[in-house]
Amino acid sequence: MAEVKKIAVISGDGIGPEVIAEAEKVLKKTEEVFGYRFETEHGLFGGIAIDQKGTPLPQDTLDMCKNADAVLLGAVGGPQWDNNPKELRPETGLLGIRKALGLFSNIRPAVIFDCLKDASTLKPEVLEGTDLIVVRELTGGIYFGEKFRRDGDNGQEAVDTCVYNVQEIERIARQAFEIARTRSKKLASVDKANVLETSRLWRETVIRISADYPDVELEHVLVDNCAMQLLRRPSSFDVIVTENMFGDILSDEAAMLTGSIGMLSSASLGEGAFGLYEPVHGSAPDIAGQGAANPIATILSVALMFRLTFGYHDAAEAIERAVKEVLDAGHRTGDIAVDKSTAIGTTAMGDLIVDAIRK
Ligand code: NAI
Ligand code: MG
Repeated sequence: MAEVKKIAVISGDGIGPEVIAEAEKVLKKTEEVFGYRFETEHGLFGGIAIDQKGTPLPQDTLDMCKNADAVLLGAVGGPQWDNNPKELRPETGLLGIRKALGLFSNIRPAVIFDCLKDASTLKPEVLEGTDLIVVRELTGGIYFGEKFRRDGDNGQEAVDTCVYNVQEIERIARQAFEIARTRSKKLASVDKANVLETSRLWRETVIRISADYPDVELEHVLVDNCAMQLLRRPSSFDVIVTENMFGDILSDEAAMLTGSIGMLSSASLGEGAFGLYEPVHGSAPDIAGQGAANPIATILSVALMFRLTFGYHDAAEAIERAVKEVLDAGHRTGDIAVDKSTAIGTTAMGDLIVDAIRK
């Protein structure tokens, strides 16, 4: 009998519960097909936790995550909490949970599914062969720096500070080099070293770490140039490593190469095997409650969990194969359908994928 793996499940807000329900069906099916055993526990997080418990990240939810082998998260946030003070905002919970769990990198694969090339706004020949990973630093940078307002000579001023230390850069650089080693051994380090001091430290540090990885080909790309090259020659990238805010923006741009944010999985990792897995997209308040959300990003996040945390490569492949099979058969949710009138809903898509999972 396989060892029982504990998975902390957090549905969150908006479409979160809808897509998580489909991912849980996938977990159950892989137990049946592969004999793996999962124990799931559910916790409140984000907007719903603010409403019910007065904080976006309740202590019992955090404890549940710390006791688990992995966390599966839907999405959090929504317009009803946007004007709350900072400590009562869902995004504060998101930043807090990553920090509390020691997660310092966010891994986002962007892979082109051949049958979806028509869903992208880019020409198929530009997209051909695109299979890249963005490794984004999660704990430092401008999102975590000191923020304040002050009175300036010309009225009120707002200040956000960007801070990085060498240790933060070293550990993310090593992780990116390690990932590049398992792929086509190409790493693009993205910075803005022509103007930012944090970027100069970033570049110096990445160059120093690269001495330990002579087999990996390293290039440095300025962030604005990277934004252009992702649209011009996406297939030339393999692993991209960058700081928090640049990574936030570039990974959303990379997401669009594939045609829909509804297709993209992600992992947040620290030291060791523990990880938090979630779709790249948010809570999509515009389509929440309609049963229209694409569950594939969340389902592929389960596959990523099987690969990176549990080492269940057979089940991960089975899930990825099932997704491809269902897409190849022409089934589409609204976000990836060319003819929207033929689109199927969240549950129907989940059921088709579950049915297609086999050894
Ligand atoms: P979003 O990703 O929620 O939505 C952007 C657009 O993509 C919307 O038109 C939405 O309908 C569509 N979309 C997203 N996921 C989809 C799916 N699975 N299937 C079909 N269509 C999908 O980003 P937005 O609108 O910027 O943010 C909405 C809320 O989500 C905000 O409160 C934001 O703070 C939060 N958010 C949370 C994240 C998280 O929990 N990790 C990440 C990003 C945003
Ligand atoms: Mg984003």
